[in-house]
Amino acid sequence: MTRVVLFGGSGFVGSNLLRYIDIEMLAPSEFDADLTRIESLLPVIEPGDIVVNAAGYANATDRSKKGRALFQQVNVDGLANLAKACAEKNVAQLVHLSSVAAMGRWNGQGITEDMMRPVKSPYAASKLEGERLLCEFQDRLPITILRPTSVFGEGRGLARSLCSFVERGIIPLPRGGRATIPFTYIGNVARAVELSLGNPECLGRKFIIGDERSYPLREVVLALAKAMGRRPRIISVPTPIWWAAALGIEIVARVGNKPPLLDRGRLDTMTCSVSYSIAAFQKATGYTPPFGLQEACERIAAWYLGQRTDGERAL
Ligand SMILES: NC(=O)c1ccc[n+]([C@@H]2O[C@H](COP(=O)([O-])OP(=O)(O)OC[C@H]3O[C@@H](n4cnc5c(N)ncnc54)[C@H](OP(=O)(O)O)[C@@H]3O)[C@@H](O)[C@H]2O)c1
Repeated sequence: MTRVVLFGGSGFVGSNLLRYIDIEMLAPSEFDADLTRIESLLPVIEPGDIVVNAAGYANATDRSKKGRALFQQVNVDGLANLAKACAEKNVAQLVHLSSVAAMGRWNGQGITEDMMRPVKSPYAASKLEGERLLCEFQDRLPITILRPTSVFGEGRGLARSLCSFVERGIIPLPRGGRATIPFTYIGNVARAVELSLGNPECLGRKFIIGDERSYPLREVVLALAKAMGRRPRIISVPTPIWWAAALGIEIVARVGNKPPLLDRGRLDTMTCSVSYSIAAFQKATGYTPPFGLQEACERIAAWYLGQRTDGERAL
């Protein structure tokens, strides 16, 4: 049986791949298989393996010097090490988790894989650079690049913040949360990854993976509220006020040399309506996202409330 080796199994995406994908996967820790040290990668890969890369430095708002260094070390140089190790070991397939961030910032509907704009953040630049360097391995290595849209789910800071706003009862949203955002539930991402494993239609190709439509933020919040049995009030806060707040948060974070929780880039994603086409991936794999928005929110709410109960028990 083909072995599947997962890098990044302790992260948000990786741990959920382990949870949702019904195939046994070997998941070496960063301690045993550090992307920045190629000599640590070779022993964990065997000829014929399928390798999934969910390892990376994913703090998309980090523009600090340390953050930029990590983007380069892990997302670019580390990925190059992994591709070299995979090519040397003749693996059957390398499935790499990139991001739609590599395509630059878009608004509009039905954005497809070939639509590229200049990238503006160090994170996006590192994801694009990672994709470009993988192209150099195309003749030696069967590669599949998957670009998830905005992933949400249990364990993700965004899901926790939205749940805590719902609990507080008042939710300030830019433009009243009417902009449509390309959210996809982590269980849907896992299904997409599963369908790409060993699939000949996916070799040497790049795909956007996500849900079939984008969601207005207020629809997501209301679905979460329903799942949590709450009826919060959504307040529409004008975008310039959010913009000023994001700028303030960025400045404070820069002074403290920490990544900001909110920046103007992230605010852009909350105010611009965009949807990505997953038609190419659906044609190649027959993919249909298994979890609808309400079911995803019910799972997230159960996780959030369960986590709080656990915390209270521990006190
Ligand atoms: N989350 C999203 O919304 C999203 C969307 C699109 C694409 N992606 C992509 O998906 C990937 C995973 O994102 P995530 O949200 O799961 O990030 P995450 O929660 O921060 O997890 C990152 C994972 O990478 C591992 N890692 C970091 N440096 C490493 C190194 N030098 N060698 C080996 N492993 C290393 C971490 O191991 P430790 O736990 O030991 O540090 C962890 O398992 C990233 O490439 C990201 O760009 C994420």
